[in-house]
Amino acid sequence: MCGIVGYIGRRDATPVLIQGLKRLEYRGYDSFGIATVGSELEVYKRTGSISDGEAEAAHLRGSTGIGHTRWAGYGEPTVVNAHPQIDCEGKIAIVHNGTIENYSDLRRHLEEQGHTFRSETDTEAIVHLIEERYDGDLLSAVNATLPLLQGSYAFLAIMEDAERIIAARNKSPIVLGVGDAEFFAASDLMPLLDYTERVIYLEDGDVADITPGRLDIYHGGQRVERPIELVDWCVEDTRKGGFDHYMLKEIFEQPQSFYETIRAGIDEDVRQMLMDADEITLVACGTSYHTTLIFKYLAETFCNVPVRAEMGSEFKYFTAPLNNLVIAVSQSGETTDTIAALNMAKARNCPTLAITNVQGSTLTRVADKTLLMRAGPEVSVAATKSYTAQLAALMQIINLRCEGAFDDVLSHAHLAIGDVLLHNLEDAVALCSRADHAFFMGRGPFYPVAMEGALKMKEISYVHAEGYAAGELKHGPFALLTPETPVVAICTPGPIYNVMVSNVKEVKARKAPVIALGVDGDKELAEIADIFIPIPDTHLLVQVLTASLVLQLLAYHTACALGRDIDRPRNLAKSVTVE
Ligand code: AGP
Repeated sequence: MCGIVGYIGRRDATPVLIQGLKRLEYRGYDSFGIATVGSELEVYKRTGSISDGEAEAAHLRGSTGIGHTRWAGYGEPTVVNAHPQIDCEGKIAIVHNGTIENYSDLRRHLEEQGHTFRSETDTEAIVHLIEERYDGDLLSAVNATLPLLQGSYAFLAIMEDAERIIAARNKSPIVLGVGDAEFFAASDLMPLLDYTERVIYLEDGDVADITPGRLDIYHGGQRVERPIELVDWCVEDTRKGGFDHYMLKEIFEQPQSFYETIRAGIDEDVRQMLMDADEITLVACGTSYHTTLIFKYLAETFCNVPVRAEMGSEFKYFTAPLNNLVIAVSQSGETTDTIAALNMAKARNCPTLAITNVQGSTLTRVADKTLLMRAGPEVSVAATKSYTAQLAALMQIINLRCEGAFDDVLSHAHLAIGDVLLHNLEDAVALCSRADHAFFMGRGPFYPVAMEGALKMKEISYVHAEGYAAGELKHGPFALLTPETPVVAICTPGPIYNVMVSNVKEVKARKAPVIALGVDGDKELAEIADIFIPIPDTHLLVQVLTASLVLQLLAYHTACALGRDIDRPRNLAKSVTVE
């Protein structure tokens, strides 16, 4: 859950590394560091976020360097534990993303050999192992080290006196940017977009030997070719574009991310896979998991196909037979639990599909086929436009299975999404920002919409919120209702309406204030609720989207009112690459 960058070429490495780390900050932001090599190895490390200003004091020499932004795993966020980690002699430096599972054994062994550890990080074991095996060639020393490592790693190593970076990957991503007599390396595409659109994705087991004018990639000791791919994201997509926060910008980009994903359609071979499935299992985590739950409700209703939706982290504990299509849904395509679940499905010979936003991500390499969402880069830790794009991809599957019955609905949905962006949520925000606890309730597909609303609320405002199936609230949580506990209720027309209105009345009878989302012109609901938020009276598929958007905005404005760090909520990282 960290970000790594590397640069080698003709430029001064320090500003390239600093800029790259700023782009990767959403992967972790409790400490950072860089190292460069000129005639000697120079290192600069600090605690806190790289955007807090301390990075500007770094003036390391050299046009070869590596950098790291950390989300603490082994060891507290301190300067000593920040990367790069260096060997005993201060000649070799590495930055690492991943977890070395046999770290304790390695450390014990290395200490017995006389190595002195400065930090509590698993990463430091790697650099001492490289030092131990160094016999005049850094590449050979890295190659001799890799078989000793258990766990996941993406690391970059440099050594004094050498314009050379060695990169190694196993279960954590590294992408290389190809410039003109220069190369970039990073955990994902973000830092590369400033410099090049030509990229190479390393595969698990690859080791890259990078010098300013030459790149050699090895796999199992053999030199291999990896294709150069063109990225269709551009650097403008990664800027705030006049918004106060990335999250707000990304919320406003949702009509586009939905529309673009629908417009891109589904490739013929993926269509076939989707049509052939007798049942569908989906695996995902967090917000992505919520989209799979929404899909389950909608697909079983509209296309009569049995759907299982499972959390990636729990998938391995279910041993039910699995012999049909498995779809992994992930914005980043790098979530460890989701990848592990998909690997399990592959091991059981199931056809597999990845729905992800990131071309070239690990999930796209594991899955048989990929359906790419078109959300563009999402920087804020809170998933918003990727959620909408996931729903676009999943709703297209429903449309496909229903022989195009929702063509018209889906091609106009972005207009309704646009309609709710400027809603005035002042009263609801005032209520939520005074609360310590809140409940979100819905039925049918609006139950996972409520779960998502609650996740967004707690994630960025730190107001404790729980998403509940409206019928479940009376089975325990009612005990928590007080006049200070807002309940957000999603009451859209259709089969759930009357029972949702009854549930709202039950909540009101317990004196909890109700913020109700209902369709425009619903006077009955507007009268019962303390605060009524209208959404357009549209098709069910679109209501799922508009209701979700309103809840994103509610969380966003509540978090702003409480002065929270919107794009970098505490303790969280965007890409969760540990189990
Ligand atoms: C949601 O706002 C979070 N950032 C989080 O729940 C996220 O959806 C989850 O970590 C899964 O990430 P992925 O979609 O990249 O796999």
